[in-house]
Amino acid sequence: MEQQLQTIREKALAQLAEAQDTAALEQLRVSVLGKKGELTGILRGMGKLPAEERPKMGQMVNETRAAIEEALEARAAVLREKEKEERLKREAIDVTMPVRPRSAGAPNPLYTVQEELVEIFVGMGYEVVEGPEVEYDHYNFELLNLPKNHPARDAQDTFYIDDNIVLRTHTSPVQARIMTTRKPPIRIVCPGRVYRADEADATHSPVFHQMEGLVIDEGVTMGDLKGTLDAFAARLFGEGVTTRFRPSFFPFTEPSAEVDLTCASCHGKGCRMCKGTGWIEVLGAGMVNPKVLDMCGIDSKRYTGFAFGMGLERIALLKYNIPNLRLMYENDLRFLAQFR
Ligand code: DAH
Repeated sequence: MEQQLQTIREKALAQLAEAQDTAALEQLRVSVLGKKGELTGILRGMGKLPAEERPKMGQMVNETRAAIEEALEARAAVLREKEKEERLKREAIDVTMPVRPRSAGAPNPLYTVQEELVEIFVGMGYEVVEGPEVEYDHYNFELLNLPKNHPARDAQDTFYIDDNIVLRTHTSPVQARIMTTRKPPIRIVCPGRVYRADEADATHSPVFHQMEGLVIDEGVTMGDLKGTLDAFAARLFGEGVTTRFRPSFFPFTEPSAEVDLTCASCHGKGCRMCKGTGWIEVLGAGMVNPKVLDMCGIDSKRYTGFAFGMGLERIALLKYNIPNLRLMYENDLRFLAQFR
């Protein structure tokens, strides 16, 4: 039995010196010291020994056990340290590594244009005003001299919410809102989204953007309108770009004009962009109809005013030479990044 103990001890010490990780060490501990372990087996066998030999043997078993435990603990400490170092090495983060660049967004050219237009008019003393996109028929049509059943209503394919509420078909209702709540002098621009039941294609979208302008004061003339839009055209597209007024009709202006700008591609010589005419239609404008002034509570005998409206998409297409309206709504960075 003594011999056996000696063998167990030597074998255990040799094995534990070879254990390469704490898991192997634990296995070894169980196989030697565990309930079914070799040493425990010896302890059990002691019952068969003569009584006078038992104390000595018991002491030897305990000594062996203590020696193995001590060696196990020492080896475990070494392995734990080694494993910790390996883990730290594995988990190390190289803080000097360069950051993977995140691609930044880019402004939509539509809003770049809107900002530019706003800036031009703010520079001329205009105030920026906004109105609701879900609008009363009253402001969108009635106060603009488009009573129910007026044929000109058909030209604007309106989304009706109910009989009295629409998605605004233009930014002109903001004029009416301002005229009914303020006293002249009034000098405002109103950019914003508008809606029409149009099929989407390269040049149409059921949601698009306009900017409206309105000036009301004593003695405002068509000459002021022309001068203002000429200044605007030159600021937007460069010196030499001016406006051409063609007679037109809008119920809310009298007289009314369709306003063309000198084609910025060919400087008026005639090209594909302007279909050879040298001009590009960009705005609707006119003198505010006295009837509209009166309906909105502004004395048409004392005050006159002009108004204009333009489509932002159209200006963005022209300014940036964008071939298809849809590109501006998809927010594809490959497209947008070109305007950074
Ligand atoms: N509201 C018109 C439209 O959407 C554009 C317009 C024309 C606005 C003439 C005006 C104006 O203020 O005077 O087609």
